[in-house]
Amino acid sequence: MAVIDNESPDQGSESFLIESGLYTDEDVYQLELERIFGRSWLFVAHESMVPKEGDYITTFMAEDPVIVSRGNDGHIRVLLNKCLHRGNKVCLFDRGNAQRFRCSYHGWTYNNQGGLGSVPLLKDSYMGDLDIGEMSLPAPRVANYKGLIFACWDKDVISLEDYLGEDFRWYLDTFLLDADPLGLQVLPGRHRYMMPVNWKLLAENFGGDQYHFASTHSSVIAISQRPEAGRIVHSEHSGEHYSAEFTSEKHPPHGLLQLAVGEQFYQEDMNMANGLGAEAASWVTNRHDRLQERLGDLKTRPYSFHTANVFPNLSMVGLATALYGRSLIVWQPRGPMRTEVWQWCFVERSAPDSVKERMAFTLTQRQAAAGMVAPDDHENFERTSDNLRGWEARTVPFHYGMGKNSGSTSVLPELPGRVLPQISESYQRSFYRHWRKQMRQNV
Ligand code: FES
Ligand SMILES: [Fe+2]
Repeated sequence: MAVIDNESPDQGSESFLIESGLYTDEDVYQLELERIFGRSWLFVAHESMVPKEGDYITTFMAEDPVIVSRGNDGHIRVLLNKCLHRGNKVCLFDRGNAQRFRCSYHGWTYNNQGGLGSVPLLKDSYMGDLDIGEMSLPAPRVANYKGLIFACWDKDVISLEDYLGEDFRWYLDTFLLDADPLGLQVLPGRHRYMMPVNWKLLAENFGGDQYHFASTHSSVIAISQRPEAGRIVHSEHSGEHYSAEFTSEKHPPHGLLQLAVGEQFYQEDMNMANGLGAEAASWVTNRHDRLQERLGDLKTRPYSFHTANVFPNLSMVGLATALYGRSLIVWQPRGPMRTEVWQWCFVERSAPDSVKERMAFTLTQRQAAAGMVAPDDHENFERTSDNLRGWEARTVPFHYGMGKNSGSTSVLPELPGRVLPQISESYQRSFYRHWRKQMRQNV
């Protein structure tokens, strides 16, 4: 398959070019299901989505339907939502609380730990030929990183901690997972919608494409700078912003955008928090104190980052201010030119209600299905994807050559990872290099 077997197109050429077949080809897509999604840690849930024994949600690991179930023993498992008899789904609902899952076709019934518990007419029909005690729904490896539940079908995969990598975990912990003494709380419901676009275009955008912001999102920048609109995000142009990538031979590449460095971002948050009242202001101050403690005596003082991507298809958004709802997005692949977007809103559990409401509002207002930001992205992605249907258009590769020869030194060496200028295409190149390497591994 040419797009997999060719030498990396950046080698020996002026630019880093990506062939359009990576986004359109059904054979490439089928191989991705095996070699990318079958071998990577995939985000399936936050533990707060299944707080009690018997709680479950259904979701997907790429195209594979799974149940995230907290069994009667208190453990969270991930179970393939596919009956062992003839393949029907055993759970038809988005979420709930259940002791067992009963297949609607012939009635085989599984307990909430995945074991096959009963089969109709077992004695009279199978006459001793079926040992149901030995049968259970297939279950991938599961790991919990500070409440984020991931699963992986590859039994030999490296640990989730190693997969995320120490440097990226520092940012994840500092700005998301350890930022609140009580952790995160997922708000009820989620956004779920289909886009006619390959999943990779979405994932690499969130981890590495700050370049598009000023052009694609010019309308939201203009609106947010009008005095009567009130400040809803940090200005693109105030203070210092960077991006960062986390690459290693030991783990897949992860990337983040709009790493904000400096105290002025805290001041902007305080101005907004004062408008919400004393309780909000005091919470933002306490949050800032915790951050300062964590940063210790670092001379470089980051305050937040805005979006990130964990390879392959988990993106994060909204960490930019203390008053913006955090969001996890899974780009669920649905074919070479289709992606189903699943997006949840998280808030910090200890925040007062006024802040939680503000967080949910600002997220919904911006990077969400009907917000002022996400639809701008979607229009571009859909037009890009439409163009890939053209015979001639498909032969023209995509260009990822920005800053290709600018060296590999971090511009803020005191911080973990490789910190880059705000606008760069370095993470995207790392993403595709790793993708190609993993796609070639025929093990
Ligand atoms: S397919 Fe599930 S019981 Fe037959
Ligand atoms: Fe965007």
